[in-house]
Amino acid sequence: ISNGLADTPQMGWNSWNFFACNINETVIKETADALISTGLAKLGYIYVNIDDCWSEIERNSKGQLVHDPKTFPSGIKALADYVHSKGLKLGIYSDAGIFTCQVRAGSLYHENDDAAVFASWGVDYLKYDNCFNLGIKPEKRYPPMRDALNASGRAIFYSLCEWGVDDPALWAGKVGNSWRTTDDINDTWTSMTAISDINDKWAAYAGPGGWNDPDMLEVGNGGMTYVEYRSHFSIWALMKAPLLVGCDIRNMTTETFEILSNEEVIAVNQDLLGVQGRKVHVYGPDSCYQVWAGPLSGGRLAVALWNRCSKPATITAKWDALGLDSSTTVSVRDLWKHKFVSPNSVGSFSAQVDSHGCEMYIFTPQTAIHSASL
Ligand code: GLA
Repeated sequence: ISNGLADTPQMGWNSWNFFACNINETVIKETADALISTGLAKLGYIYVNIDDCWSEIERNSKGQLVHDPKTFPSGIKALADYVHSKGLKLGIYSDAGIFTCQVRAGSLYHENDDAAVFASWGVDYLKYDNCFNLGIKPEKRYPPMRDALNASGRAIFYSLCEWGVDDPALWAGKVGNSWRTTDDINDTWTSMTAISDINDKWAAYAGPGGWNDPDMLEVGNGGMTYVEYRSHFSIWALMKAPLLVGCDIRNMTTETFEILSNEEVIAVNQDLLGVQGRKVHVYGPDSCYQVWAGPLSGGRLAVALWNRCSKPATITAKWDALGLDSSTTVSVRDLWKHKFVSPNSVGSFSAQVDSHGCEMYIFTPQTAIHSASL
């Protein structure tokens, strides 16, 4: 796709995880307002994405998709204008099938008309789902919408939501700006950890312009603990996943805000090197002591110590697992404590990690600095 977007993973909000079909234009506008008033927009959360249920079951007499007149009476163009007036971007949703998953009109065989209408409304982002697909392979159904978006005259972020069917990492880099690697997330520890592991397998295929998408954030929706949500956010950031908030940000707790607004963790996600961090070492009972890591710009590393056990534990990252020479001296900054915790670790670094917790760090090798000062 030639839209010049997705140099870094997309950040914003999406209506589905919290609201499902209970959406309307007031919720969307109030969410845009809240992105500004909370300061989340300034941290990079700029897409306001409407998911399923904004549209009618039938097209209009001109064959165009139309908004649900009961819940979006002012129409999508007016909503896009409102969102743009706040400096934000508007996302919408459709489906590469004859209906959306909630049985509204789908875009299969209407790609050009629908891309044109989205562009005319000022839409900036399309999430494109996979229901009612007539059994046609996604490799056939997703490129026509890419071509239609490219021809629409507007740069529209193209998010493939085909649930990992036919291993999209292998082909979707030429089609979209991100592709879902898994089934839908739900707001549980079990779902979140399983999805992390599946998404990890495709790490090599992510990079600037196209990202693996392990689905949207559940942080703040109530089904996991604070410690588990911190792990969810840390690992999503490290995996260069889209950071699409899925809670009601008009009514966030302080803890939810503290997680979503961690600038140091966000900076790992948005690092311009754009390499997906991966699970580099597991050990302990049921392999529940885990080290996840990946390179950052400037020769630094992002490192997460993730304890999936039911008891607190000390977890150790060894230099060989991180690809560091055993004699390398590293300074370690803790991204949740917001402080340097070691100026000169050599060979390994260990920390105590809560059950289901994840500690996250930036490792800066000191070699370059030493040789420069000689
Ligand atoms: C599918 C998608 C979800 C959401 C719903 C809406 O399940 O994977 O993310 O968009 O459809 O119906």
